[in-house]
Amino acid sequence: MQRSYVMVKPDGVQRNLVGEVISRLEKRGLKILAIKMYTIPKETARAHYAEHEEKPFFQSLLDFITSGPSVSIVVQGKNAVSVIRTMVGATNPSEAAAGTIRGDFGLDTGRNIVHASDSTESAKREISIHFSESDISEYSRIDEQWLYE
Ligand code: RTP
Ligand code: MG
Repeated sequence: MQRSYVMVKPDGVQRNLVGEVISRLEKRGLKILAIKMYTIPKETARAHYAEHEEKPFFQSLLDFITSGPSVSIVVQGKNAVSVIRTMVGATNPSEAAAGTIRGDFGLDTGRNIVHASDSTESAKREISIHFSESDISEYSRIDEQWLYE
């Protein structure tokens, strides 16, 4: 089963969308293996978004992502990475499809509510940035035989 890393960003926390995001993941059949709320330190944010270091928006992205508590989640399920990216929607919420998290709740690229890993390699890297292996719970969900053939 694939794992992905999801973050409800500081705007999502302030806008009381934590429950909404978790609820969508759970109802889709995805399993939460680890979850924590914390204010991401600057150096951790820098590592998390290292691929964007040279971009003009990098500093404002760092300032925003470290501006208050966010919720980090490890999620597992069949094709979790691409399934969650589809649920999250386009980077710019104004262009994100209705029915996606960004398309239902956001308007601005710099306030797009959630982050989700864009590949299995990114997922592995991001999970290791925000969690240690002992934070992650492996367990069976009671509905698994009804979710998977
Ligand atoms: P994320 O990494 O946060 O899940 O978002 P994403 O994959 O959809 O988009 P990405 O290209 O990785 O960009 C990371 C975050 O940087 C901010 N951004 N601002 N002003 C801009 O042109 C711009 N482009 C990206 C967004 O907050 C985006 O989520
Ligand atoms: Mg990204």
